[in-house]
Amino acid sequence: MKINELPTPCYVIDEGRLEENLKILKNVEDRTGAHILLAQKCFSGFCEYPLIAEYISGTTASGLYEARLGYEEMASRFGRENHVYSPAYREEDMEELAGICDHIVFNSKAQLLKYKTVIDAANVAGNRGTALHSDAYSAGSTDISDYSSNEPSDVVSSAVNIRVNPDNNCILSDMHYRYSDKDCSSLDNGRKHNVSIGVRVNPECSTQEGHAIYDPCSPGSRMGIKLQDFDEEIMSMIDGIHFHTLCEQNSDDLEITLHAVEEKFGPYLHRLKWLNMGGGHHITRKDYDVERLIRLIKHMKETYDLEIYLEPGEAVALNAGYNVTKVLDIVKNDIPILILDTSAACHMPDVLEMPYRPPLKDSGEAGEKLFTYRLSCNTCLAGDVIGEYSFDHEIKVGDRLYFEDMAIYSMVKNNTFNGIPLPAIAAMDRNGDCRIIKEFGYEDFKMRLS
Ligand SMILES: Cc1ncc(COP(=O)(O)O)c(C=O)c1O
Repeated sequence: MKINELPTPCYVIDEGRLEENLKILKNVEDRTGAHILLAQKCFSGFCEYPLIAEYISGTTASGLYEARLGYEEMASRFGRENHVYSPAYREEDMEELAGICDHIVFNSKAQLLKYKTVIDAANVAGNRGTALHSDAYSAGSTDISDYSSNEPSDVVSSAVNIRVNPDNNCILSDMHYRYSDKDCSSLDNGRKHNVSIGVRVNPECSTQEGHAIYDPCSPGSRMGIKLQDFDEEIMSMIDGIHFHTLCEQNSDDLEITLHAVEEKFGPYLHRLKWLNMGGGHHITRKDYDVERLIRLIKHMKETYDLEIYLEPGEAVALNAGYNVTKVLDIVKNDIPILILDTSAACHMPDVLEMPYRPPLKDSGEAGEKLFTYRLSCNTCLAGDVIGEYSFDHEIKVGDRLYFEDMAIYSMVKNNTFNGIPLPAIAAMDRNGDCRIIKEFGYEDFKMRLS
């Protein structure tokens, strides 16, 4: 099936573009020894985790559910790393997190003190996955269609039961059992599970302008421990520190941030095992200065003898997806307005939150080409407007439009406001052949309500 034959609305993951990004990231890993982790908050298209696992070191999570996804679909299958950071953890989640994560990063000294013993106990037990609650991973069945349609056809069961591999306590689904020799048993190697603990610091160095909502160093921020609150007691409990201050930025801003980190936390860095430089590095963008990034990583590694972690989200799936939509109606106010079957508020919320103008295939700025339209959708929100775009030809009801750069912060953020259907999810291979991974219907809307 080609992209123009897919149902609409539909997110399409472009595997060719994804792999190009992954090659760039792997090159950074290879040349520096840094570990690059996919920030799942940005892109959680787990049908592509087998591909992603070929190139980078693992996943990072914002809490239990993403951590579980990273564990189930990447760490346990391919032996990759699973990290988590949250501004605060729920008591009922920590035991399970300690069983499935390699790094747990705390946002405050109080959280570190509260959960240190839970992690110590998990480390003494030492078995990956064994700290899981008994009901975890057994919540019924997972429809086989949840998995990538390129799974081998010998999988006939319609239910995936979760079991524990007795050799290494690795949690495995039936699907994973198929991979167990290759992916899980051999990679997990029965190794002793050990959670490494870190804290997030706030280097108090803003490098963003006009983006206070995305600036963790803005005044009054809740993100990270400032130097004035950092002390020897914290140091006695941690292996590393984490900072995240960037958003869609180049390595010159990382350099400025690293100066601040060194100035403030330099004396501590010498005594730590690792430094996590967070996300927001637009490494796969054309104008990104990769050579400077490599210099900076090497400098931090060599000066302080640290393992370096980076956890980009956007850079992994940048420009590697589309949102295919259809024109449902055309109304006229001051200019012609296209009413689409995709919504900014429901399907690409960053358009309104960031805000930004999504690229649209074969279009120009308003007035640049012959026919200009305002693009909107079928929700009740008057401000659910995507932007004004122009085209070489007149647009008609039933035409398809292709929003670009739609793999990031789209599927992970969508919602069913107004009962608007969720877009299907498809993947497109290098030949342009598409396969539908998932479709959603009325039940997906209803199941989240009561
Ligand atoms: C702690 C942390 N790590 C990583 C990321 C990923 O950032 P990006 O997708 O901009 O690379 C974010 C994004 O907000 C974050 O908060």
